[in-house]
Amino acid sequence: MFMIFWINVIPVHSQCHNDQKSLLIQLKNGLLFNSAISVKLVNWTEATDCCDWKGVNCDQDGHVIGLDLNSEGITGEINQSSLFSLPFLESLNLANNSFQLEQIPSSFGNLTSLRLAVLDLSSLHFPETPSLLLENPSLLTLLQNLKGLIELHLDGGLLMFLFRISGFFPEINLDSNNLFAPVPEFFASFPNLTALSLRSSNLYGTFPEKIFQVPTLQTLQLESNSLLSGSLPEFPRNSNLKKLVLSETNFSGALPDSIGNLRNLSRIELAFCRFSGPIPNSLEDLAQLVRLDLSSNVFTGPIPSFQMSKNLSSI
Ligand SMILES: *[C@@H]1O[C@H](CO)[C@@H](O)[C@H](O)[C@H]1NC(C)=O
Ligand SMILES: *[C@@H]1O[C@H](CO)[C@@H](O)[C@H](O)[C@H]1NC(C)=O
Ligand SMILES: *[C@@H]1O[C@H](CO)[C@@H](O)[C@H](O)[C@H]1NC(C)=O
Repeated sequence: MFMIFWINVIPVHSQCHNDQKSLLIQLKNGLLFNSAISVKLVNWTEATDCCDWKGVNCDQDGHVIGLDLNSEGITGEINQSSLFSLPFLESLNLANNSFQLEQIPSSFGNLTSLRLAVLDLSSLHFPETPSLLLENPSLLTLLQNLKGLIELHLDGGLLMFLFRISGFFPEINLDSNNLFAPVPEFFASFPNLTALSLRSSNLYGTFPEKIFQVPTLQTLQLESNSLLSGSLPEFPRNSNLKKLVLSETNFSGALPDSIGNLRNLSRIELAFCRFSGPIPNSLEDLAQLVRLDLSSNVFTGPIPSFQMSKNLSSI
């Protein structure tokens, strides 16, 4: 199994701190790596300034802020006690090494300075049963930290796996991640899904209509995914949808009359999409409506009166 992290590193040189150097030496000594492949680790020696070591970047004060151990032939575990004691670490590249899924350390949350980790897990194989995976606390930590921090480059398999373990949470928020993926339909089978937020996440493909029909779903936010296509399905009467935000997506087609079934809907924003056809009069049935934004589409015909929508504050 392969686990790959990729991060941008900006080199800065300066005097190495002894405590940082000894942590790096510990890290090296704790790592199993192929010295025939390694060009960085293999040359880390006590005698030299650790800020000059290949793969190590320091700030002006000599704190290690970047580690690039890409393609070093590393197998087996990461020595947690040394890696996660580098409190200034902002970037970490472990791409193209071989780690086991079980070896994803549980302490990633300790790297509080880590600004950008681009995960490339595309060749990782994963077990089918999500319950097994839930027992791995590091994956949960990773997932909880996903928000805007980590860029994921995944094949369909691992993305499915991540989405699957997120199925144990009623609220899924993967905003501002570069997921580069279509949205899997199995979100629709998550038993307790109340909120799904995938804003600005580089999603593409066709959004599965079934997700709109999940009875527990209250919030669906997909805005700013310009390559994400889709259309609105018939809405069932038992829907709990309160907030529906699809602005700046490639959603198209007509608004169904059954949109009037969404009696709990308070906010609907469909701006800058490609919706067309008439604006259904059934929108007038949405008594809870507070905010309605249908701007920059290609609607035709009259605008409903909204006399029933006493709470409406913004059209
Ligand atoms: C990791 O580093 C600690 C602290 O130096 C050391 O005691 C431990 O033996 C190392 N772990 C491995 C697997 O080498
Ligand atoms: C990570 O943080 C937790 C909680 O603060 C702490 O108990 C643990 O020892 C830390 N792990 C490492 C490897 O520093
Ligand atoms: C946007 O949706 C239309 C269908 O309405 C489709 O033909 C087009 O390929 C989509 N564009 C992208 C970028 O997916």
